[in-house]
Amino acid sequence: MERKDGPVLGIESSCDETAAAILAPDGRILAERVLSQIADHAAFGGVVPEIAARAHLTALDAMVRDTLREAGLAFTDLAAIAATAGPGLIGGLLVGTGYAKGAAIASGVPYLAINHLEAHALTARLPGMAATPPAFPYLLLLLSGGHSQCVAVEGAGRYRLLGTTLDDAVGEAFDKTAKLLGLPYPGGPALEVFAREGTPNVPLPRPLLHRAGCDFSFSGLKTAVALLVAAEPPGPLSRQRAANIAASFQAAVTDILGDRLEHALAMCPDATAIIIAGGVAANTAIRTRLALVAATVGKPLIAPPLRLCTDNAVMVAWAGLERLAAGFSSTLDAPCKPRWPLEAISNLAPTPVIPAKAGIPDTPDHGSHRFPLSRE
Ligand code: KG4
Ligand code: ZN
Repeated sequence: MERKDGPVLGIESSCDETAAAILAPDGRILAERVLSQIADHAAFGGVVPEIAARAHLTALDAMVRDTLREAGLAFTDLAAIAATAGPGLIGGLLVGTGYAKGAAIASGVPYLAINHLEAHALTARLPGMAATPPAFPYLLLLLSGGHSQCVAVEGAGRYRLLGTTLDDAVGEAFDKTAKLLGLPYPGGPALEVFAREGTPNVPLPRPLLHRAGCDFSFSGLKTAVALLVAAEPPGPLSRQRAANIAASFQAAVTDILGDRLEHALAMCPDATAIIIAGGVAANTAIRTRLALVAATVGKPLIAPPLRLCTDNAVMVAWAGLERLAAGFSSTLDAPCKPRWPLEAISNLAPTPVIPAKAGIPDTPDHGSHRFPLSRE
């Protein structure tokens, strides 16, 4: 089938945000919706996968129909329906991809299985993110609750993982540390605000600082905070002491990320820009440090607005448009992949765009059905 030029619907349901968005072929956002499930999970202090999956199931259909109505479109007007197929929580992935495949079959529109990390990686090229879209290669620093990765983005579908976390993701470290300090969930933003009351005068380790490469490690830092808190006299921590620990933790993470970025730049000297994404990229201290490192090497730091930095469906639809333009498509038997490292989708040949009504062809989808070993 000839590729139809037209808008793309994106669906995101890999963690605790349900989101749908429709983008015009040139990347203009025609409609977008995001529903955060934070309130559903707050009582448990973290994301509960089954609650997340049910919440996606409840919200998604009405949300997609809202976006179609706002864009003045029907499913049959779409050039493709793109859904996050991994990495993420399997229940949510099944809800989003199942919905997308069903709609694709019913309306004869191609389906695209999108890698969530690729969607973060390509957001910087969305029109309006920078004066001119960054040319390949550029560096992506993905700092979220589920991922800490440094990736050389060499093209749509071409990624080189430079470093990843060896244990906790950076957002996870913020959340766990915040919990130790008695701060509410999600801990990252709460810790940032609380740290302003403190002085970073508590010595804490900076795992892997100055170590070769740009891998990250945060669990030792979190454990150091746990040991500090445990060594305090019985009873609640004084507010000032807790704020000092929060400020010291944030300073340690900031030092680590600044150092890792320096190493990543050395590993990809021809990078045209540095892109930061993920919820932790909202942290002002961290942003400021990363901007400083970028300025030192004379490269622009692009930080998409927060709503496009955290999980959203605009990035999924945009990755769909980029994939379509590059000639990639997915078959309807493309599986959900809870673990799906970016390297696994690199250097695979584009496959022809497949109309959903043609059934399930033999051509492989853009990812492998076997999961390569991931370091995360
Ligand atoms: O990208 P994101 O919204 O999605 C998931 O990973 O699901 O990232 C959420 C993470 C959480 O761990 C949250 O605590 C952290 O980003 N976060 C922050 C800040 N805002 C969100 N961490 C530090 N400082 C912040 N201002
Ligand atoms: Zn994400």
